Amino acid sequence: MTITIFVPRDAAALALGADRVATAIAREIETRGIDARIVRNGSRGMHWLEPLVEVRTEKGRIAYGPVKPSDVPSLFEAGFLQGADHPLCRGRTKEIPFLARQTRLTFARCGVTDPLSLDDYRHYQGMKGLEKAVTMQSADIVQQVTDSGLRGRGGAGFPTGIKWKTVLEAPGAQKYIVCNADEGDSGTFADRMIMEGDPFVLIEGMAIAGLATGATKGFIYTRSEYPHAIETMTAAVEIARKAGILGPSVLGSGKAFDMEVRVGAGAYVCGEETALLNSLEGKRGIVRAKPPLPALQGFLGRPTVVNNVISLASVPVIMDRGAAFYRDFGMGRSRGTIPIQVAGNIKYGGLFETAFGLTLGEIVDDIGGGTASGRPVRAVQVGGPLGAYFPRALFDTPFDYEAFAAKDGLIGHAGITVFDDTVDMLKQARFAMEFCAVESCGKCTPCRIGSTRGVETADKIAQGIEPQKNRELLADLCNTMKFGSLCALGGFTPYPVLSAMNHFPEDFSPAPIAEAAE
Ligand SMILES: Cc1cc2nc3c(=O)[nH]c(=O)nc-3n(C[C@H](O)[C@H](O)[C@H](O)COP(=O)(O)O)c2cc1C
Ligand code: SF4
Repeated sequence: MTITIFVPRDAAALALGADRVATAIAREIETRGIDARIVRNGSRGMHWLEPLVEVRTEKGRIAYGPVKPSDVPSLFEAGFLQGADHPLCRGRTKEIPFLARQTRLTFARCGVTDPLSLDDYRHYQGMKGLEKAVTMQSADIVQQVTDSGLRGRGGAGFPTGIKWKTVLEAPGAQKYIVCNADEGDSGTFADRMIMEGDPFVLIEGMAIAGLATGATKGFIYTRSEYPHAIETMTAAVEIARKAGILGPSVLGSGKAFDMEVRVGAGAYVCGEETALLNSLEGKRGIVRAKPPLPALQGFLGRPTVVNNVISLASVPVIMDRGAAFYRDFGMGRSRGTIPIQVAGNIKYGGLFETAFGLTLGEIVDDIGGGTASGRPVRAVQVGGPLGAYFPRALFDTPFDYEAFAAKDGLIGHAGITVFDDTVDMLKQARFAMEFCAVESCGKCTPCRIGSTRGVETADKIAQGIEPQKNRELLADLCNTMKFGSLCALGGFTPYPVLSAMNHFPEDFSPAPIAEAAE
């Protein structure tokens, strides 16, 4: 019987040498005359083990990692094709604690299947949600998504069902589904992992969104920095079209939906939905004033759903298993699961999908294993570059939209970046202002001018120039940006700055340079 070996094609695994490992395995297979095939799967999301090679055996899939090309001959010698022991052997993949503790609903297939095999997709429960949706009325699909409690995973946490209802009820002959796959937040990679590891789930989710709202055309807007995601997504769209999943009659229903992948040059602000729409229309990526809402006047002025990749990719399991099944996970108004992306200075970094409700401390200390440097964790930034820094004192905060908001933070796209005790929080505050200055679209004054003034003020504090006055000025500037900015780039930059000032005040009182030199 042909033996199946899995070597990820995910960009993170590729960056760590997965292609060279696959080549080395192929060479051994050939010289040893073994009946085996290599499947290039997505990543399981355990970055410290990449490239993670798996073999399908009678005992289930056995994992080996992190594998270097030079390890490959010894793996064959040890009998890894039969799941034999080896210093790199991690046992049964699904029993690796980092995976075993997860609740994988959206990422159920990621790393399991061949991303471009529709047979694999269907074998692992794929397409069941769309098969149900084609038999339903639009309003019933919208109701199901509303009842599930799904909220947008792109950052704002807006209820997906309400957005879809607005588009469904908006007048207009032509409507659109736009998937926001810009994924600009540093330290986040969930969208990319889905596009590279299970592209059909996004296609299925977008097709369901089309049926739910009456939109017949979809776009996946992603960035040029994601070449592997672009390649896999584009190929998957083509396969889905050939299979009749996309096109004039979705799954033979007589209802049309088609889509294409569009690539932006890569600007943080182009992840903001209205700047994204401008970019998609071929214009400069600059924020539009709201109202009008994109749901009413979006792409080309037509009613448009703009949803994050994970929001859309979570819809198939909701349609398949039902709203109540999904809603049963989570806490408070944060229902279902969330793919937390643990990055930065962390021992076990990667993607951890779980029901809302774990505390920040559990995620960082238990699941992430603390810092990679072995030094104490000092600060954790949650929610990307616009998210607040949390000190250890707030590690009991549960992962929940409202709980984070109550602590002046945000979940955002669920990225967590960990820092050890060598971090300088004044430098981090300056970096937040600098990031805003570099990425600002320039449309409104608080963000365009305020961010540059923020950098200057942080520099003055660092130099010990009138520190008290400049700390007050920085806080005042944050207030102006928070309440006066047109969009969340300028409006949320104060979160990392103020949280750094409030939780780590000692870093904002450096000794004046002259004194320090003495
Ligand atoms: C500066 C800025 C950048 C953003 N970047 C992204 C992004 O990369 N991906 C994303 O899905 N949403 C991003 N958003 C949020 C979007 O504007 C929008 O809320 C989201 O796409 C809606 O989809 P959702 O309801 O499914 O989350 C960004 C917002 C701002 C202000
Ligand atoms: S806050 Fe910044 S990015 Fe947003 S509209 Fe204003 S200038 Fe543009």
